Amino acid sequence: MNKKFTTASFIESKKKTEKITVLTAYDYQTAKLIDNSGIDCILVGDSLGMVVLGYEDTLEVTMDDMIHHTKAVARGTENAFVVADMPFMSYHVSKEEAIRNAGRLVKEGKTMGVKIEGGREVIEKISGIIDAKIPVMGHIGLTPQSVNLFGGFKVQGKDEEKAKQIIEDALSLEKAGVFAIVLEAIPEKLAKIITEKLSIPTIGIGAGSDCDGQVLVINDMIGLNDSFIPKFVKQYKCINKDIKSGVSEYIKEVKSSEFPKQEHTFSIDEEIIKKLYWV
Ligand code: KIV
Repeated sequence: MNKKFTTASFIESKKKTEKITVLTAYDYQTAKLIDNSGIDCILVGDSLGMVVLGYEDTLEVTMDDMIHHTKAVARGTENAFVVADMPFMSYHVSKEEAIRNAGRLVKEGKTMGVKIEGGREVIEKISGIIDAKIPVMGHIGLTPQSVNLFGGFKVQGKDEEKAKQIIEDALSLEKAGVFAIVLEAIPEKLAKIITEKLSIPTIGIGAGSDCDGQVLVINDMIGLNDSFIPKFVKQYKCINKDIKSGVSEYIKEVKSSEFPKQEHTFSIDEEIIKKLYWV
């Protein structure tokens, strides 16, 4: 039987140099499948907006979108640690609003922790949420909610000044009490330095193999997505091909009356049927 993964398990895993596995999920069945497969942590990412809801970026995602999907994931999860993204503008206006929205994700969405994008500029909000006893995961490097400020989805921390800023952000987040930090799309050697400097784990996505754990978007990782695949994604399966061929076969068999067959149907007494013709 798998043991429940907690915030303490994140720290223990780092101490024991056991890599932490994280995948996103947005619905009950996927959560149940990946939880049963033994994943450590399920992230209800705001990537939800792009991969499930068809939005152009993550900026349109609302608190209600996040709560709706987090609830479904929580219902399908027994052992993994569930963490939900705080969407754009749910924690930017004030500390009070940030705490209230994090509280909604816990009370209504049944998440165990929340993830917040940003470094020193969001420390006050993060501290407030932690003071309300809600665990926070940090997220620095390429933070997709800042796409308009970055001018696109670009690798971050390639020059000395930016790299130093990312290190400073990581140290400040650790000091504020986050239990782990996602490092997205930064050079692997920078991720290694950050990982060595921190006593909390780093979870990488496009940040190399020295991070304490890895996270991928499930839709990219199983190849549900048949369009653009970022460089840092490994496609372990390509299920869009299976879905397309299954659907083509279904269409063909329905059109030709090959489906449904006898074994897919229900029977009734012939005597009853005879009487029904006279109704
Ligand atoms: O929203 C998301 O899925 C994420 C991961 C890519 C880290 O933030």
